[in-house]
Amino acid sequence: LKRKIIIHSQPFLDSKEFLYLKKALKENCLCCGKYVQIFEQKFAQFLGRDVVCVNSGTSALHLTLLAISKRKKRKILIPTFTCSALLNASFYVGLQPVICDVNLYDFSLDIEDVKRKIAHDVNCLILVHPFGIPVDVKPFLELDVPVVEDCAHTLGAYIKNKMVGTLTQVSIFSFYATKFLTTSQGGAISSSDKKILNQVRDLREYDKKNNYKIRFNYKMSDLDACIGLAQLEKLEEFIKKRKNLASLYTQEFEKIKNIEIPRVYYERDCLYYRYIIFLKKGKVSSFIKIMHERGIRVERPVFKPLHRYFKLKGFNSAEKIYNKSVSIPIYPALTLKDAKYIITQIKKVLS
Ligand SMILES: Cc1ncc(COP(=O)(O)O)c(C=O)c1O
Repeated sequence: LKRKIIIHSQPFLDSKEFLYLKKALKENCLCCGKYVQIFEQKFAQFLGRDVVCVNSGTSALHLTLLAISKRKKRKILIPTFTCSALLNASFYVGLQPVICDVNLYDFSLDIEDVKRKIAHDVNCLILVHPFGIPVDVKPFLELDVPVVEDCAHTLGAYIKNKMVGTLTQVSIFSFYATKFLTTSQGGAISSSDKKILNQVRDLREYDKKNNYKIRFNYKMSDLDACIGLAQLEKLEEFIKKRKNLASLYTQEFEKIKNIEIPRVYYERDCLYYRYIIFLKKGKVSSFIKIMHERGIRVERPVFKPLHRYFKLKGFNSAEKIYNKSVSIPIYPALTLKDAKYIITQIKKVLS
């Protein structure tokens, strides 16, 4: 008897998305902008700050870097334990990425490594709130370079009662299919600075402009915005489901000696975009293989730390995390039955 595969990550869609999509399709509104505007308003309300939507998180990063870049400062600090979109966006605008190590505590940028690598020609820094963990921005704001908050993994999380994505001058979001909230592909920029928002609004589309400069076709479509509207209505429920699954996992995995479970942080509201366990024994690659054989897709939290692409040395914490961590399925569409199957199998393999 063949068991179904429990995939690592997937969106949660229901009749709400279909209703909004049907409405837009009936109105012939694919790219008229009406639903994008509504989604922008609703998302801004949720966040408590203005937003501009685009067609991906990468586009959001690209336009943000264009808007804040200073011509003479050609470097950008980024963490290594993240996705390659950060490298791409940096190179798109001609900034030289200076890759920094992360810390073992919350997997975000290591402030000490950042302090070692910061220089007069650093243009800005991208601070990722990784895997659903909100990060304290304060030490980074003291460095006197613009900080871009990357909230692709951590939408709607609070730290000391403040919502991520509003903690620095500018923040970006991704609404890719498996993110917290999806629009299929999509992204957004939020800022407290109207000038930045006007600039990215101008750059995201090229048509009917009085002056010429290089602009992009980065608009979000209305169909994508419709999916986003439906998802936004379910966001609180999504967060609750992730937290419930996380506490079930924690309750069960606490009993296993051979793994370390996610830490609980003071005054940080973690959303469990990923539930990451650390193996005290054995190889991650073997564990992934065994779990796949049992029908469970577990993965490394990042495909490859960015410093590895360039064979850079001196990233001890990121290497430690990469060599021992595994992300297990956690998402609102995951059934309790599947979660229990995952628990049973992990216990069997690791106990
Ligand atoms: C931290 C982070 N930032 C930015 C992005 C880019 O988002 P997108 O895939 O929507 O372009 C990703 C992608 O997964 C990401 O993980």
